[in-house]
Formats: sequence, structure tokens, C-alpha cells
Amino acid sequence: TTIDMAAEDYALGGYPDFMRKEIAEQSEAVRRALRGRLDDRFATARLGGLNMDARELRGISKVVFLGCGSAYYAGQLGAQLVEELARIPATAEPASEFRYRNPVVDPDALYVAISQSGETLDTLAAVQELQRKGGRVIGAVNAVGSAIARQCGAGVFLHAGPEISVASTKALTNMTVSFTMLALLLGRVRDLSAADGQRIVDGLRAVPDAIDQLIGDEAAIAEIAQRYAKARSMFFIGRVRAWPVAREGAQKLKEVSYVHAEAYQASELKHGPLALIDPEMPSVVIVPDDELLAKNINTIEQIKARGGPVIAVTNADLPASIADDVIRVPKVAPELDPMLLTIPLQLLAYHCALALGRDVDKPRNLAKSVTVE
Ligand code: G6P
Repeated sequence: TTIDMAAEDYALGGYPDFMRKEIAEQSEAVRRALRGRLDDRFATARLGGLNMDARELRGISKVVFLGCGSAYYAGQLGAQLVEELARIPATAEPASEFRYRNPVVDPDALYVAISQSGETLDTLAAVQELQRKGGRVIGAVNAVGSAIARQCGAGVFLHAGPEISVASTKALTNMTVSFTMLALLLGRVRDLSAADGQRIVDGLRAVPDAIDQLIGDEAAIAEIAQRYAKARSMFFIGRVRAWPVAREGAQKLKEVSYVHAEAYQASELKHGPLALIDPEMPSVVIVPDDELLAKNINTIEQIKARGGPVIAVTNADLPASIADDVIRVPKVAPELDPMLLTIPLQLLAYHCALALGRDVDKPRNLAKSVTVE
């Protein structure tokens, strides 16, 4: 009806669609997630919603992240952060698989149920299965009062604000921000030094401006997207820290543009997928400025030697000649790189979808929250 139309125009606040609006809102969303939670005195994070004291936090033997879709990829980033900062074993698993496979539940583990909507049936069922077996599970949920938030009773709210577009952007970023704080807290009750803790605190504070800087480069990314949108298929390549980034980038492209995309670990390329590289198969290579930089440069060279077009997404100081296109990302702290490297991939998927005339907010066959089996 006309009234709904007017309400939607109002909610869009001048943006062409919700996905674009929610991408732009990310710096504000991150500021909200950080508000009142960074502690400079002890170089740690304050997450009162966990309802756990230092002794309980120290007793955690491992951390298992569970979520579906993009929330699962955020969980992979979370697991890496927990292992890096707290040196506690951590993994991520799709909640949809977990509920069906009679999981071994460790009473000393911390399980984290991740969900923007808080209503995803597979994730809710995983929480109930965990609780039935005596597992300790917290929520990482955006929607306050949702089924998963209530079922968990403790956790970290994401504070991303309402997310309307089916493809998750700002909620995903706030998941990663929240897991950085969780990992920082777990690290600081163990052996993470105050200096390293403060480096993470300062890095988190720098994230909103870095996001705004990235979004300021949108026109260049849109131009790249227009050139590649007609591809039959694309590779997203990353390793270690950048591997979940590659997976999320491929997922976004599939969801909103319907272009087939596949994520591969750079290290696995030579074990099969290199056979697919030719001038018709573009690769988006995620290159963080970390200890694996030389190996990632080598990966780009291997793809180029086989005639494959390369879009490098990097925060390293690489020459423009390294790839066909280079998308540059600001640096805050190595542990926070993956979060920032994800943002150009949102814009790439978004502009590929626009170039192909897709309905970005409501991709065919998908629902914002899947509350059925
Ligand atoms: C659906 C959406 C995905 C989303 C997933 C998890 O499949 O299409 O974009 O990542 O659900 O949603 P949640 O609300 O639990 O984060």
C-alpha cells in the first residue's frame, strides 16, 4: 500500500536500498557495540551480560562458536581470535549440522550461539540440545528479546540496530567486534599482556573511522564490480586469518548477485582448483599484511601465470602492478584485519548485484531468518 511505501522510504533515509544503508551504517553500529565495553585501566573488555566471574572465565577449556550462514563465518573469525588472543582451543561449526550429529558436549567448554535475528531454528535447536546435555551456552544475538537470546539467558548483544536486508552486513561486523572483545577478555584473565591488550583496545577504537574510510572508496569498487559482474564464476582466496573472509565474500556474491563463487584456502589451490584458472575465471585474493604476505604474493603470481584475472584486497603496501585491480584497506591491528577486509567484499557483491539488476534486499529463494527446518 502507499502507507507501507512511505514508511519504507522513510526508513531508507535517502539510500536506494537497505543493503547499501546498512553497509554505510557500520561505523555507527561498531561504535554502539563498543560503548561502555572497553577498559583502558586493565586493557580489557567489560561484558557484563556474560554473567561470569574471572574464575569461571579461567575455567573455560575450549570455545565453540555455532551459527548459520554468515553467522557461522563470523564464528570462524571468533574462533581464530580466541585462539590468537587467549590461546584457548576454539572452533566454529554450522549450528544446523551440530544439532543433528549427537555432539559430544564438554561441560567445561563455552558454547557461543550466534544469530542476528535470534530466531534461526537450527541455531535455537543447537542451543536446546547443548543445554539438555549440560553445556554452558551464551548468545551473540542482535535482536533483544528474541528466542535465542531468551533461551541462552546470558551473552553479548550485538547492538547493530535493525537489519532489514537479507544479506547480513553490519550485524556480521558487530559479531566480529564482539568476538574480539570476548577474546580480549578471555586473554586478559590468562596470559595476554597488558600491552597487547591495549593494542587491541586501541585497534577496536580505530575501527569505525577505518570503516568510513573504506566506504569512501566505494566508487572505485563499484567500477571494478561492473567489469567483473558478467563472470560465470569467481574464486575467493584467503589463508588462515583471511580464510573466513574469503568464505564470507563468496557467500555474499552468491546471495545477492547469483554469480557462482567458491572460496578456497590459498594453500589448497595447487591441490585441485588451479585447474579451473583461465582468463574467464577471476580470483579475489585477500592479502592481509601479516607473516604470510610473501606466500600470498606467490599465490597471486601463480594465478596470473595461468592467465587468471586477480583482484587483490589488501592492507599491505603492494604495488598496483601486483594484480589487475587492487582494493586497499586501512590497518588497525593484525588481529582486526579480517573484519576490515570483509567490508570491500560486501561492496563488491552489492555492486555486482546492481550491475546485474538484482533485487539486492530480497534475493530470490532466501529469507532473512529461517524459522523452519
Ligand atoms: C539466513 C540468511 C543469512 C543469515 C542466516 C543466519 O540463511 O539468509 O543471511 O546469515 O540466516 O541468520 P541469523 O539471523 O541466525 O544470523
